Amino acid sequence: MTGPITTHRHGSILVIVSDNPPVNALSAAVRQGIESAVKEGVVDDTVHAMVIRCDGRTFFAGADITEFGKPMAEPALPMLVDMIEAADKPIIAAIHGTALGGGCEVALACHYRIAVPSAKLGFPEVRLGLVPGAGGTQRAPRLAGVSLALEMTAKGDPIPARRALDAGLIDQIADEESLEADAISFAQKVIGKPLPRASQKTAAADPAAVEAFRKANARRFRGFEAPEANIACVVKATEVPYEEGVQFERQQFMKLVMGVQSAAQRHIFFAERKASKIDGVPEDITLRPINKVGVIGAGTMGGGISMNFLSSGIPVTIVEMAQEALDRGAGIIRKNYEATAAKGRLTPDQVEKAMSLLTPTLDFNALADCDLVIEAVYENMDVKKEVFTRLDGIVKPGAILASNTSYLDINEIAAVTKRPQDVLGMHFFSPANVMKLLEVVRGDKTAGDVLATVMALAKKIRKVAVVAGVCYGFIGNRMLMPRQVEAMKLLMEGATPEQIDRVHVEFGMPMGPFQMSDLAGVDIGWHRDPTRIENIRDALAAEKRWGQKTKAGWYDYDDKRNPSPSPRVAEIIDEFRKRTGAAQHAVTDQEIVERTLYPMVNEGAKILAEGKAQRASDIDVVWIYGYGWPAYRGGPMFWADTEGLKKIVAGLEKHGFDVGPLLKEKAEKGERFTS
Ligand code: 3HC
Repeated sequence: MTGPITTHRHGSILVIVSDNPPVNALSAAVRQGIESAVKEGVVDDTVHAMVIRCDGRTFFAGADITEFGKPMAEPALPMLVDMIEAADKPIIAAIHGTALGGGCEVALACHYRIAVPSAKLGFPEVRLGLVPGAGGTQRAPRLAGVSLALEMTAKGDPIPARRALDAGLIDQIADEESLEADAISFAQKVIGKPLPRASQKTAAADPAAVEAFRKANARRFRGFEAPEANIACVVKATEVPYEEGVQFERQQFMKLVMGVQSAAQRHIFFAERKASKIDGVPEDITLRPINKVGVIGAGTMGGGISMNFLSSGIPVTIVEMAQEALDRGAGIIRKNYEATAAKGRLTPDQVEKAMSLLTPTLDFNALADCDLVIEAVYENMDVKKEVFTRLDGIVKPGAILASNTSYLDINEIAAVTKRPQDVLGMHFFSPANVMKLLEVVRGDKTAGDVLATVMALAKKIRKVAVVAGVCYGFIGNRMLMPRQVEAMKLLMEGATPEQIDRVHVEFGMPMGPFQMSDLAGVDIGWHRDPTRIENIRDALAAEKRWGQKTKAGWYDYDDKRNPSPSPRVAEIIDEFRKRTGAAQHAVTDQEIVERTLYPMVNEGAKILAEGKAQRASDIDVVWIYGYGWPAYRGGPMFWADTEGLKKIVAGLEKHGFDVGPLLKEKAEKGERFTS
């Protein structure tokens, strides 16, 4: 047999092996190979059982997503899984790595499943805006009950093999080193026994569990279509026979796969992976080893940054100027770990292991042998230059020097060192131990291997990294600026903070610009002179309305930080409207969209045209992972494509914006930013 599927015999057992790197996606060739191998096993009287397993790093990680939207070659996955289950000889799935999506569906259609302890099973389809399309929502609740099926399908979190065993989703744990042999001995034991078929079982209804699940996840699911479709499918499994349920599931799948949300989420899946590829740097470039990291500054940012490395088993030396600040920083790191442990997400041993890798010190010279040093001090060019000059004299040759600046010019910082090729920006987002995004800022002189090393390291510490060029605010914050400017203008013309924030939240953002300002601190970047009041923000800051931390900002806050509209802020806005004589009009929600979100697209297009982002999809990744742009809208550039670039340009021109040439050109030609 040629192609990705091969078979071999072990006595009366036919072992069917897939080898379709990198993740054994169930492409047409894989499906065809499995179909003919199973047929061969069924008709051959000397075959008494079959084992399906995969070579390489994982069991089938799902349907081949690149085939979506194209004509489906036979056999389609739903037909294949039903054919596997209908076989009259036992078929055993032998799972290692991740059995995901269609892969998990193949496994559940087999009569038995065994998995190594490190294996995981899951239905991540919801993250692609989908439901499983080959019986997953019908077989999972029949095997493991409604609650687990909901967790797996509507949330998309994979579960480890042991949990799958306890839940009845798999039948046995295999030895990590001898999966095939264990599957064969399992097969020998079940030959001749009645065949268990998941589709023939019944799933008990549990309306209370369904309601509780909906309620518990309401925030997470807000705006997304797929979670509710998954819930509906799982509920259906408790109401109707398999054949009917699977038809319902199929309808949901087809509806979703044709929709904008799934297209947006699939775009993000590939965008995230594409982001790690660096223009002009060969993929096989030799990376610099990073065995020890130095962090300068033990404040909120420095502490959060350190945790990423500690959690990944990389030792960190953290340097501060004063003992008190150092102790406070190290104490906060421990407290954060302990809080995670209290939620059951870390063991006390893991906390101690991470903390044992941390070396707090006041001695700058302790950074000498670090392979990477990240500066996380005060956002001021002179301070940063001083730090880098000092570092240059201390740190060993070949070490990478990074600045965690959010705005400043990396070239200017690099220029104070004798090794600008080793310098770049690593812009973490706050809280740095939680937020997934890392903007990696490529200076004019940054060496290719330095950039590639940091991009690879980002993956190791589980960040999604995007390469940005040097410009004020890089990709994310640069696009934030026109939004903030416009939001302030809208206030002056008649909108309220509540209206502007509501429009953003309804759009799917976690919060609007004023809520964000209250969370970050209204006083950030304030000149600190209460008598100098030049704009509304100065007026708020002068009255100590610094946001959530002072229980007053753009909103008033109660003791539990619940916001309410502030009459005082309304007065201040009114005073400024009068003072400036700004013309008033009734601002509509649509105008807020056009004036705050369209300019972001405009800025994104300028960033792209200037080469400060490698590709439009990188901009989308920045906004999804750094600022909570709703994944179901695919990021600002994908969203602009779905709105239509002509419409965006017309909206911008209507409000008098200077539309960048690239956006204009693409609109005129009827092109898109994303594929
Ligand atoms: N289809 C096509 N390509 C896939 C793929 C899939 N299902 N899963 C991964 N790939 C590709 C990636 O795009 C990447 O390609 P690249 O090297 O060209 O960039 C390559 O495989 C390696 O992927 P990762 O970089 O993500 O590798 P990791 O080791 O970090 O992660 C993984 C492996 C956990 C399997 C991860 O790739 C993953 O989560 N994949 C998607 C799983 C998924 O969503 N499955 C459900 C698909 S939908 C479905 O099955 C519908 C069915 O119900 C009908």
